[in-house]
Amino acid sequence: MTEGRSCPLAYRYSAEDLCQEPSTVSEDVLYIIGGLYGNPWALDEIEQMALEEERQGHRVKLVFNGDFNWFNASDSLFRTINSRVLDHTVSLGNVDYELANPNAGAGCGCAYPDFVDEGVVERSNRIMARLQGIAGEHPDIQRRLSLLPRYHCLIFGGLKVLVVHGDPESLAGWGLAHEAFVGGNDGKLSEWFLATGADVIASTHTCLPVLWSGLVGEHSRMVVNNGSAGMGNLQSDPRGLITRIGLSSPVIEPVAGIQRQGLNVSLLPVAFSLEAWLTDFDRLWPAGSPAAVSYRERILNGTSLGPKDVIFPSLI
Ligand SMILES: [Fe+2]
Repeated sequence: MTEGRSCPLAYRYSAEDLCQEPSTVSEDVLYIIGGLYGNPWALDEIEQMALEEERQGHRVKLVFNGDFNWFNASDSLFRTINSRVLDHTVSLGNVDYELANPNAGAGCGCAYPDFVDEGVVERSNRIMARLQGIAGEHPDIQRRLSLLPRYHCLIFGGLKVLVVHGDPESLAGWGLAHEAFVGGNDGKLSEWFLATGADVIASTHTCLPVLWSGLVGEHSRMVVNNGSAGMGNLQSDPRGLITRIGLSSPVIEPVAGIQRQGLNVSLLPVAFSLEAWLTDFDRLWPAGSPAAVSYRERILNGTSLGPKDVIFPSLI
């Protein structure tokens, strides 16, 4: 395995262990925020969305499930993002893990599968190397990152919500990626739901959104992958996405949503200021830099997916 394609041993865990010690959520709404990627404007907007929920009488718990670092390649932005995020409930992504515990030979730790182009992998390794240089100047933050868990199991509305970064076998697993659902991964899903006992599994890491529902063991189950909170996810749409789980409907129009077992699970758009973020991004990652080559087009224009493409089983 080469840098950026390997899956470090420390990323591995057993699905059976993930919901052994669940904690009960007292708030009315969960926001699960994966892939903020160092975008402070998206974080501002998410905080505003939570305030709006609170004005409607819903208390919101912010849960960050990793990769809140990535483009924040300056001392001040590195400190700002981490200080703000670490005030909440947080678990690690591979990016944050590699900043806290640099693994020789892991590169970005993304465990990129074969369908991801080698140029993307090589540029991600260079982004990680630059960010690790900055993180090394902030040992207090590195220490706080190193103490974070790799997953959370939450009891919400009487149901088990398992929050991971990748999948139930690895911090950087691609088993809950959009591509995996397109390929049909029902066997693996059944195995993971039965092993964890989860009603909902929330993931991120693989950068494209998914909202799946189905029956496993005669119980209704759901998978939600928010794609990216800090970067566009849908066609001609630069808005980020977060996962919202509530007993009530969201106060803003979701991109997609389902209701099962009394839970409302939806993907909410994060309409941050693109102009403000691009100004920061271009200063940190000018034309020709690895992040500009890999991500600027997506930041501007999103992906090729329409809202219906994120729903599984697919809508005909
Ligand atoms: Fe990741």
